Amino acid sequence: MRIAITGAGGRLGGALCRCLATHHTVIPLLHQDVELRSPETIGQIVVHHVDLVIHTAAYTNVDGCARDPDLAYQINGLGTHYVALACQNLNIPMVYISTNEVFDGETSTPYGEYAPTNPINAYGRSKWAGEQIVMTLLQHFFIVRVSWLFGGERNFIRTVLRLAADPPEGGLRMVEDEVGSPTYAHDAADAIAQLIETPCYGIYHLVNEGWCSRYTLASEVLRQAGHGHVPMTPIRLADYQRESTPPSYTPLANRAGAAFGITLRPWEEAVAAHLAEVSPT
Ligand SMILES: NC(=O)c1ccc[n+]([C@@H]2O[C@H](COP(=O)([O-])OP(=O)(O)OC[C@H]3O[C@@H](n4cnc5c(N)ncnc54)[C@H](OP(=O)(O)O)[C@@H]3O)[C@@H](O)[C@H]2O)c1
Repeated sequence: MRIAITGAGGRLGGALCRCLATHHTVIPLLHQDVELRSPETIGQIVVHHVDLVIHTAAYTNVDGCARDPDLAYQINGLGTHYVALACQNLNIPMVYISTNEVFDGETSTPYGEYAPTNPINAYGRSKWAGEQIVMTLLQHFFIVRVSWLFGGERNFIRTVLRLAADPPEGGLRMVEDEVGSPTYAHDAADAIAQLIETPCYGIYHLVNEGWCSRYTLASEVLRQAGHGHVPMTPIRLADYQRESTPPSYTPLANRAGAAFGITLRPWEEAVAAHLAEVSPT
């Protein structure tokens, strides 16, 4: 297939370009190639005559979205509208990457793919708008929700490693009441590569198996990286002041993917794989 990937310079977009290039012709679309705030996006995609578009590009700065919800909607909502119109024009399916933040976190069991959505912050609302647009405009689509993405240069795990190398006075402070499903970009890309070979359109939760708090994730990173001695204090979400309010409990259950044999390894193993990538032995 000829596959266009928006956000090709990002964490997941980059992983997808690497993963799909072995069996497909990949057209990587960087921010400089496609500006989601402009309807010209439609023509900039159509011109490539691709068989599939994987739309990963987004305004992912959740605090920036909280400061400027209209910009978040322009990029994540309307921008997705333009990408979906390009797919409609080409009569091809679209993969839209979405987020755990379409849920409100007010539950005590992991969210299934068709659990009711109720975003509680500007980022979540803008990504949810993107989901609605895709479902409204297209007959053939995959909505793939991921969560707590890691991989590449900038991510939570790299931040923990950096803090561990030069701990702040009093040690690290990590939130214990924000719980989610970490997702290794490499594993999500691999799962998406399997999914697009099927005609099984719909909503998917392609996250690593299991879930944890930010505190537990950081503890596991420190343990595996040999920094288990670095002191760390659990704090509450309410004590960590930021502009965006993340939903507190959003583990995602991968039921639809698993039904077709598409599963991701447990998050602890994925952390180990990323650490090996960061500092190969
Ligand atoms: N990161 C997470 O933890 C997480 C969790 C759940 C879901 N997701 C979703 O997963 C997808 C991939 O996330 P990621 O972490 O890989 O993203 P990322 O690393 O932040 O990359 C996003 C990409 O989008 C591009 N972009 C931003 N604004 C744009 C615009 N106006 N027009 C065109 N391109 C634009 C960026 O280009 P520049 O950098 O050049 O601006 C960047 O290459 C996103 O849809 C996100 O909503 C992410």
